[in-house]
Amino acid sequence: MYKILKRQDLVPGIHLLKIDAPKVAKKAKPGQFVVIRIDEKGERIPLTVADWDEKEGSVTVVFMEVGTTTHRLATLGTGESIADFVGPLGVPTHIDKLGTIICVAGGFAVAVIRPIAQAMKDKGNKVISILGARSKDLLFWEDELRRASDELIITTDDGSYARKGLVTEPLEELLENGNKIDMVMAIGPTVMMKFCAKTTEPFGVKTVVSLNPIMVDGTGMCGCCRVSVGGVTKFACVDGPDFDGHQVDWDLLMARQRTYLDEEKLSFDQWQCQCGNHT
Ligand SMILES: Cc1cc2nc3c(=O)[nH]c(=O)nc-3n(C[C@H](O)[C@H](O)[C@H](O)COP(=O)(O)OP(=O)(O)OC[C@H]3O[C@@H](n4cnc5c(N)ncnc54)[C@H](O)[C@@H]3O)c2cc1C
Ligand code: FES
Repeated sequence: MYKILKRQDLVPGIHLLKIDAPKVAKKAKPGQFVVIRIDEKGERIPLTVADWDEKEGSVTVVFMEVGTTTHRLATLGTGESIADFVGPLGVPTHIDKLGTIICVAGGFAVAVIRPIAQAMKDKGNKVISILGARSKDLLFWEDELRRASDELIITTDDGSYARKGLVTEPLEELLENGNKIDMVMAIGPTVMMKFCAKTTEPFGVKTVVSLNPIMVDGTGMCGCCRVSVGGVTKFACVDGPDFDGHQVDWDLLMARQRTYLDEEKLSFDQWQCQCGNHT
């Protein structure tokens, strides 16, 4: 069992868990993920490592409540345990000295991109981060991402904080203003990553995205996380999750993400009934 050392509610529907997992903490690198299972009957879900402390033997994940497992996970508190915490999995994000890098994060992905931005900065790159959220009350880790960046631009869809609009707008301006941008890293909802890649494509700037197809085993065995990149089939769990955003077949990815919508809804309704939450 893996003990929860700390649970923190970051914003409504998004939570942080610090887990006692010394073996994972020893090997984790930016961009990698773990597959967790709450108990022996639970489904496996992938979550990206947001932080880790080798000395303490802890790994931090940040997750958003979307369906049954993430809602169940949100009911756990400090001192409780989960059955499985497997990792680190996936190919770490390639960290190199390239020059100027734009890191774009949408929603909970600020937690995912922060260690990448920090590693890129530590390597000597100039890091410009763009952080987007639907509204002010869903923004978190602004200071943490600011510390990991040379410059931080914030957008909210409804204009309740900082600049009103989508992350693609400042991204396009930075590219148009003649700045030499050597790479863009975009992590967040699939549609956000797709439009970041569409924005950078005419400028020919390499754009890396972290794909989030449905995963089961996370070790290349089940084929569930199949994606098409440059016309070649890849397994996101072992070949990724980072891929060239200009090569991803976004329509296929989004169609495959919707495969089990009916089952996911049924599972969530059943869970709510069990909890007595059903309206
Ligand atoms: C490599 C990777 C890293 C991820 N890191 C994070 C993270 O750090 N924080 C976070 O909040 N979420 C992360 N996700 C997404 C997270 O795994 C899903 O939100 C979670 O599996 C949903 O489970 P559920 O039972 O709560 O919802 P479900 O009812 O299963 O699904 C609700 C929605 O989530 C999508 N989904 C379902 N299962 C998966 C799955 N196994 N993988 C991806 N999407 C799924 C479905 O398309 C559906 O729209 C990551 C996904 C991948 C592939
Ligand atoms: S999750 Fe099974 S092959 Fe990737």
